[in-house]
Amino acid sequence: MISYNGYEDTITRVYDNNQEHVFKFWDELTDAEKKSLLEELSDIDFQHLMSLYEKTKEDEPIPMDFQPAPYMPVPRTDEQKKEYTRAYDAGIDMIKHGKVAAFVVAGGQGSRLGFDGPKGAFPVGPVSDKTLFQIHAEKIKKYSEKYGVIVPWLIMTSPANHQDTVDFLKEHNWFGLHEESVHLFPQKMIPSLDPDGKLVLADKHSIFKNPDGHGGSLTALRQSGVLEKMIDQGIEIISYFQVDNPLVNIVDPYFIGFHVLQKAHISSKALMKAYPEEKVGVFVEFENGKIGVVEYSDLPEEKQYEKDDEGSLRYAAGSIAIHLFDCRFLMDITGGGSLSLPYHIAKKKIEEYTREGEKEIQGYKFEKFVFDALPLTDNNFIMETTREEEFAPVKNKSGIDSVESARELMSNLAMNWLKQQGISIPPEVKVIEISPLQAVEPGDIDNHITIPAKEKVYIQ
Ligand code: UD1
Repeated sequence: MISYNGYEDTITRVYDNNQEHVFKFWDELTDAEKKSLLEELSDIDFQHLMSLYEKTKEDEPIPMDFQPAPYMPVPRTDEQKKEYTRAYDAGIDMIKHGKVAAFVVAGGQGSRLGFDGPKGAFPVGPVSDKTLFQIHAEKIKKYSEKYGVIVPWLIMTSPANHQDTVDFLKEHNWFGLHEESVHLFPQKMIPSLDPDGKLVLADKHSIFKNPDGHGGSLTALRQSGVLEKMIDQGIEIISYFQVDNPLVNIVDPYFIGFHVLQKAHISSKALMKAYPEEKVGVFVEFENGKIGVVEYSDLPEEKQYEKDDEGSLRYAAGSIAIHLFDCRFLMDITGGGSLSLPYHIAKKKIEEYTREGEKEIQGYKFEKFVFDALPLTDNNFIMETTREEEFAPVKNKSGIDSVESARELMSNLAMNWLKQQGISIPPEVKVIEISPLQAVEPGDIDNHITIPAKEKVYIQ
């Protein structure tokens, strides 16, 4: 057994849990490296980790029975239109009183895009090439100007991209936002395991870990002190979204208004699935009356294809990871300082450090999902939105949910907004982009603008 003064307990725990292979390179480490490895190991909850590993061997638990969750549809009838107007007024009131903060989860890397850096630094503007971060920041700036308040921007990073994200935003002068209104904090990491339940070395003196999933964001928000800071500033609602969706309507008066009128603790946006196999989770009501999301991979096949009386998909309302959280509710559920959402297990590639260099192995990663917070309250509200207006996820290099499709969706929406405002678009125009500093909704567009007759047009 190796020894090191002050870390006797940690070393014993490592051996007791049959993880001593992590000391493989011990004799080659400097004193600082030995200490850093032991420090990392002292933070690991082996009991918890081993219980997660045991779960990898079990059959998938049979989910509770469920039916589709009710939701507020896009307004079609006069009655619904009236409800929307009422919600709009309530939403505007909240926004103008400075009660809303924006919260983006940006712990992911751009690896699936073949991009080395925080995903938020990826350029997506179809004409401007603006990055995801710039688009979100400029929307927030516009809302702040439009409603005469400061909308704080909370950004959850991961330890892997935190410093790069801070540097990126600083380098760009916070994209015109006040530095004090932007709050960055990293999420937690959790060790991954190899197929035999062993820790994996990331290099000679560190353990391979993955970010604990976007479900870790609620604990990170609390533990960073940012949630309390927001409450002290009078914030009541946290508007949650993913960094990879440039179309998200971050401060939506209708959504916020419904959330308030329904006294919801969590509100969520849903869009109708385009086809049964689409990879989005669906909103359901469990047999115990709680609302939740069932991930696409867990939806039984007969339910995936089930039709209602009108011939439409019965489980059609898909989750696009846009939520509103009531701050007091978040304080309650993170009461002990953290929140124990379940971990989901994913079999994924892991880079293991070996003497011969990096070796790719299949291992287990554990992640929490934010939508598992929905069943923690009886006060849920779900509102339908449309793909064209609000969902352009940038996940892949090409094809479905790609940079190309997102650029196309952004351009299509810009064209629609201009048409709605009665502004004519010359036939030469193929791609159009509207800067968020100009408009975050069609009504913001200056009606007197003339669109030039060229292929790519940028309205700023
Ligand atoms: C997720 C949702 C899916 C939804 C889709 C919409 C889950 C399991 N799936 O899919 O239902 O339809 O988004 O785009 O939630 N992130 C972190 N930290 C982490 C993990 C992720 O900050 O530890 C952030 C990423 O930066 C990104 C977002 O969460 O902004 C989504 O992560 P991603 O892995 O792309 O989600 P998907 O599985 O594609």
